[in-house]
Amino acid sequence: MSTNKMWGGRFSRGPDAIMEDINTSIDFDKRLAEQDLAGSLAHAAMLGAAGIIESADAEKIRTGLETIKAELAAGTFPFRRSFEDIHLNVEARLAELIGDAAGRLHTARSRNDQVATDFRLWVRDACARADLMLKALQSALLAQAETHAETIMPGYTHMQPAQPVTFGHHCLAYVEMLERDRSRFRDAGKRLNESPLGAAALAGTPYKIDRAMTAKALGFDGPMRNSLDAVSARDFALEYLSACAIAATHLSRLAEEIVLWASPAYGFIKLSDAFSTGSSIMPQKRNPDAAELVRAKVGRILGAFVGLLTVVKGLALAYAKDLQEDKEPVFAAHDALELSLAAMAGMFGDLTVDAPAMRRAAEKGYPTATDLADWVVTNLKKPFREAHHIAGAAVARAESLNLSLEKLPLSELKSVEPGITDAIYKVLSLEASVNARTSFGGTAPLRVREQIAFWKERL
Ligand code: ARG
Repeated sequence: MSTNKMWGGRFSRGPDAIMEDINTSIDFDKRLAEQDLAGSLAHAAMLGAAGIIESADAEKIRTGLETIKAELAAGTFPFRRSFEDIHLNVEARLAELIGDAAGRLHTARSRNDQVATDFRLWVRDACARADLMLKALQSALLAQAETHAETIMPGYTHMQPAQPVTFGHHCLAYVEMLERDRSRFRDAGKRLNESPLGAAALAGTPYKIDRAMTAKALGFDGPMRNSLDAVSARDFALEYLSACAIAATHLSRLAEEIVLWASPAYGFIKLSDAFSTGSSIMPQKRNPDAAELVRAKVGRILGAFVGLLTVVKGLALAYAKDLQEDKEPVFAAHDALELSLAAMAGMFGDLTVDAPAMRRAAEKGYPTATDLADWVVTNLKKPFREAHHIAGAAVARAESLNLSLEKLPLSELKSVEPGITDAIYKVLSLEASVNARTSFGGTAPLRVREQIAFWKERL
């Protein structure tokens, strides 16, 4: 076994095969290749400009890195496990391409600040993509909200019919949630946007480097102020993962509703053929597999968050190889979240709503009982608690006669409360109930349309 070309100076033999297995990260950190090249290009240009290396060498390094970029794009770049990680793979390839000048690239830098830089760049892009994909799902929800601003469905608390709402209002609740998810990703993207490059191994470097120059070249707001923090901080990844976990939790709630609504017991929606699956044994089935999988993906996404928190917990400063375990959870959560977002936007984009079925369901469970109580408060000047009791008695009458409140004869209502007049029927219909909820943020179609206009402008 030969010793390692990169750091084998004091070694007389190479690593054990198991050592290589546990140590290598190229199988997953190859996903940082683009960011690694960007970091190296910025670093080499700075070394040349600052006179730390000859500008001819800086130029050779630049062309070599450009060749590697092309090889990566063409899929011909040789990823080799013997070179451990993406940083050493790039440097080794650079040496094959340009010879000795390659050895000057690592001046005034360490893999510790290099990997921190690469990973920040990667997570920054991921935050921006999450924002865009959440926006696409918001748009799909908004389109359904617009079609169904007046479509009545049961509103539930405790999964019991509570008060009628509109499907548009329900869709917009998710648009709001997703907006907060977007702002979490944007915040994370802003907060992480400082450059670790130039922190070197942990303590900074004696070379007269220009950290502001590399930071600017990489689109960072500026260099990180503390070299120890720069190489060991991973809260940017944790923040990204926590935003992923919260967004995935929101998606799981919507997914659960899709599963319920698509079941024949509800029959509120029909997923398109493109987003339904059949059963290998039961020919009648249309399964909402994608929604179920989105509902489940939160497991691995939250697991990734907890996993990385646990890796970082109790880790003394500065860099330790533990931190190499930061990438897989982030990549895993990222992949699961993006797939979930794409699937949800797809499903919501072309599902159809069975408005009559929603209405029939909304008629069950006396959902205008609160309206009856409110009428008694307003017209008979009763305290709400007493009105609540009267409405409850009316529901009991209606239930024993197997009638809706709307169909309950006036004589029955009068037997409960003699003061009730037939004016009360104006508030007992589902439409009246929904239309009456005009408070800001309420479900009245008038208010829902205002919110739709707000979101159309905003998205
Ligand atoms: N592959 C390593 C990682 O992902 C790069 C940094 C290695 N640094 C070191 N001192 N061994 O963390």
